[in-house]
Amino acid sequence: MKQTTVLEFSHVSEDIQNNRVLSDISFKIHSGERWTIVGPNGSGKTTILKIINGYLRPSEGKVTVLGGVLGDTSLPEMRKKSGFVSSYLDNLLVSDDNVLDVVVSGRYGATRLWGVPPLGDVRKGRKILRELGCIGFEGRMLSELSQGERQKVLIGRSLMVDPSLLTFDEPCAPLDLGSRESFLKGIETIAEDRRELAMIYVTHRIDEIPACFTKALLLHKGTTLAQGDIEKVITSKNLSACYGIKVEVKRWRGRLYPLVI
Ligand SMILES: Nc1ncnc2c1ncn2[C@@H]1O[C@H](COP(=O)(O)OP(=O)(O)O)[C@@H](O)[C@H]1O
Ligand SMILES: [Mg+2]
Repeated sequence: MKQTTVLEFSHVSEDIQNNRVLSDISFKIHSGERWTIVGPNGSGKTTILKIINGYLRPSEGKVTVLGGVLGDTSLPEMRKKSGFVSSYLDNLLVSDDNVLDVVVSGRYGATRLWGVPPLGDVRKGRKILRELGCIGFEGRMLSELSQGERQKVLIGRSLMVDPSLLTFDEPCAPLDLGSRESFLKGIETIAEDRRELAMIYVTHRIDEIPACFTKALLLHKGTTLAQGDIEKVITSKNLSACYGIKVEVKRWRGRLYPLVI
């Protein structure tokens, strides 16, 4: 596979209200790589995603998304390359819109449709919903869906623009075990079907990282504790240091689980 650089953070720091929230963060993500960003609450994970998706400007350093430097490239252009799945976006959706419309609206970077979309977009929306295992509820209203189903609709929405990068911010936080596993299966399917798609999955819980994520960035108070191959980064030693308690990391069928010891 040809390795294109999808995203590069170069010595990025972020100050919010005179607090250093991120300090000298550097990493590079190539096409087809799946990265997880892990760290305790307040360690700066969401701040990184906000910078990537153009909601925050870095105070220092440089961020490049697909060859375009953040700040020089227009935001609408950027957002066509990068999709964002989070509960923040979920809250912006209108509950009595139907599922297919919400997915198709992603094509226009909007949260709802204001006119009749071209047939090609509708077909594409249906195909994406099928891929995510959401067949049969395209005509349903968002308010009729479970949280897990809504989260899948958000993924579908972000796939409408064929992004090169897809980012997730704690997508499983509101989900119970069953809907969590069904949602994670959706991510695994996307990963299999779209080999070139780079993904970033942010979480403070290592047991929900899908098995297809093989790279990790471990954050601690806005600094990088470790980065690289997941098995070298999410180790018992690193996790214990990061969370301040003794944990042992166990691997089971490609997923990681923390045992408190
Ligand atoms: N709008 C804001 N105003 C003040 N402080 C903020 C704001 N957003 C984030 N922070 C601070 O930045 C730090 C990192 O936050 P965040 O990136 O949301 O962490 P995480 O997603 O890892 O939980 C935290 O200490 C948080 O309190
Ligand atoms: Mg967060």
